[in-house]
Amino acid sequence: MKQFDFLILGSGIAGLSFALKVAPRGRVAIVTKKNRAESNTNYAQGGIASVTGKDDSFELHVRDTLEAGAGLCKESVVRTIVEEGPARIQELIDLGMKFSETEQRASDGSRELDLGREGGHSRRRILHAKDMTGHEIESALLDAISKQPNIQIFENHLAIDLITSQKLGYVGENRCHGAYVFDRKTRRVETFSATTTLLATGGCGKVYLYTTNPDIATGDGVAMAYRAGASIANMEFVQFHPTCLYHPKAKSFLISEAVRGEGGVLKNLEGGEFMDGVHAMKSLAPRDIVARAIDSEMKKTGADHVLLDITHKPAKFIIERFPNIYQTCLRYGIDITKEPIPVVPAAHYQCGGVVTNVDGETDIAGLFAVGEVACTGLHGANRLASNSLLEALVCAHRAAGKILSTTVQKTDLAIPLWQSGNATNADEMVVVSHNWDEIRRLMWDYVGIVRTNKRLQRAQKRIANLQEEIHDYYWNFNVSADLLELRNIATVAELIVACALQRPESRGLNYNLDFPDTNDAWAQRDSVVRKPI
Ligand code: FAD
Ligand code: SIN
Repeated sequence: MKQFDFLILGSGIAGLSFALKVAPRGRVAIVTKKNRAESNTNYAQGGIASVTGKDDSFELHVRDTLEAGAGLCKESVVRTIVEEGPARIQELIDLGMKFSETEQRASDGSRELDLGREGGHSRRRILHAKDMTGHEIESALLDAISKQPNIQIFENHLAIDLITSQKLGYVGENRCHGAYVFDRKTRRVETFSATTTLLATGGCGKVYLYTTNPDIATGDGVAMAYRAGASIANMEFVQFHPTCLYHPKAKSFLISEAVRGEGGVLKNLEGGEFMDGVHAMKSLAPRDIVARAIDSEMKKTGADHVLLDITHKPAKFIIERFPNIYQTCLRYGIDITKEPIPVVPAAHYQCGGVVTNVDGETDIAGLFAVGEVACTGLHGANRLASNSLLEALVCAHRAAGKILSTTVQKTDLAIPLWQSGNATNADEMVVVSHNWDEIRRLMWDYVGIVRTNKRLQRAQKRIANLQEEIHDYYWNFNVSADLLELRNIATVAELIVACALQRPESRGLNYNLDFPDTNDAWAQRDSVVRKPI
C-alpha cells in the first residue's frame, strides 16, 4: 500500500498546477498513465483566453462565453473563472512560461503579449506561444514540479478505480480514500491511499473514430467517478473541432482555430466560401455552428473534406506564427503558404463530465475533479475556444485553496488490496481491439455531429451488448491497459448516449433532427446521470 496526503490522477495542466499548490502541505503522488508530458495539454495549440487587451473587458469575455454556451452556462461560474484568469496567468509567467510577444516595443523597452483571436471571441484575447502553447505550459509546469521534493510522479501507471467507503461496504457518507492503479511495467495492481484524491484525467476524444486527441483521452476519470457513484452531467455536449487535418497518414493533427483567427477562410472544393450565408462571424463563428456547416457542406456535395485557405497572407507571417502547423503539413506534402489545407471536423473536447462546483468539489467527500474531466458549468452547451486551459488553471487553484483551508480527519479505514482471483492471461486480444473499433465507429456514425433518437437508441443497444462482453472479459482475465481503457470508453459512450436521450431539444453541440429547436424548459437544465449504488 502506498500512502500519500494527496493523490492526483493525471499530469496535464489541471493535475500539475494543483500539485504545485498543495505540495507545501503534504506528500503528493501524481499517477499518470504514460510518460509525464503525454496529455491533451501538451498538444494545445491556440492558447489561453484571458482578458489582458486594452480594448477588452471581463464583461465582454463573460458575454462571449455565455453566447457560445447557448444558454446553458452557469453565469456565476463563468464570472469567477473569467475574473480570476489574469492572476493565474501571471503565476504561470512567474513559473517561466513564455507567451509570444508583439514585435513593437513600449517606451520602456518592454514588449506586450501578442493576442490571438479564435471563434466566438469578440476581441483578440488569446495568449499563446506561437502554435505550441500547450507544450510550453506543460514544460514550464513539469520543470517547476521537478524542484518539489514532496511530489513523486508515477509514470506508466493507469488508475483503474476509485476506492470509496461505499464500495468497501461502509455506511454513511461516501468518501474517497484513493485508487487502485495498474503498473503497466510490472503488470501489477497497486493500492494508493490518500486523504484527498484529484481526478485530472482529461477528456474522452478516443470514444470517437476521428479525434484531435492523443491516445490517453479515453474518459477514464468520468468512468471511474460514475462507477464510484458521482453525478455526471452534460455528456451529450461533445465538441467537434471544425478543422482536423485530412490526410491518410496524419493521426489526429489539429489545424488551430487561430489560423482562421488570422484570416484563414473555409471553402468547399469548388472554392465557395460556404460560411458566408451561415453566420455573421463567417469562418470564425462558434465551433458548433462551423462544424455543423462543414458536415452539411460535405453531405451536400459528397466531398470527404473541405478546405482551409490562408494563402493570401504573407508566407513569412504564416511560417513564423504557425511553425508547428506549417512544418507538420509540409511533412505530408502540403505547403500551407501556397495551397489550401484539407480539413474535416473531429471529436475534440468533452464539455460535460463529473459534476463539480467552481472549487472542484464532487458529490463524493475527499474527491475533487478539475480540468476537462469536470463539468463546472463554464462551458454550457458549447465551450468557447481556449477557455479550457483557463478553467483548469483557475479551478486547480480554487480546489487547492478549498482543501488547504479545511481540516480533514485522516481515517484509518482498512483498505483491502486488489484481488485478481484466478484470472488467466487474455489470449484473445483481437476481441479487445475489435470492440475498441466497433465502439468508436458506432459513436462516429450514430452519435456524431447530427443525431436522431432512432440512431441514439440503436447505439444504446449495441453499447449494452458490447458492455456485457467487456464485463465478462474484465472479470475472467488479468487486466491490461487496453482492456481497462476499453471498459472506460464503453462506459463513456453509454453516458454520452444516455445524456443525449435525456435532452428533448437541440442546443449548442447537441443537434437532434427529431427536436431541431431549443426548448426553453431545458434552458438551464443539465442532463444528469448517476449510477445507483
Ligand atoms: P489532460 O491535459 O488531457 O491530462 C490528462 C492526464 O491524465 C494525462 O496525463 C493522462 O495521461 C492522464 N490520465 C488519463 N487517464 C488516466 C488514468 N486512468 N490513470 C492515470 N492517468 C490518467 N484548450 C485550450 O484552452 N486552448 C487550446 O489552444 C487548446 N488546444 C487544443 C489542441 C488539441 C490538439 C487538443 C487535443 C486539445 C486542445 N485544447 C485546448 C483542450 C485542452 O488542451 C484540454 O482541455 C486541457 O489540456 C485538459 O487538461 P487536463 O489537465 O484536464 O487534461
Ligand atoms: C485550437 O487551437 O483551435 C484549439 C483551441 C481550443 O480547443 O480551445
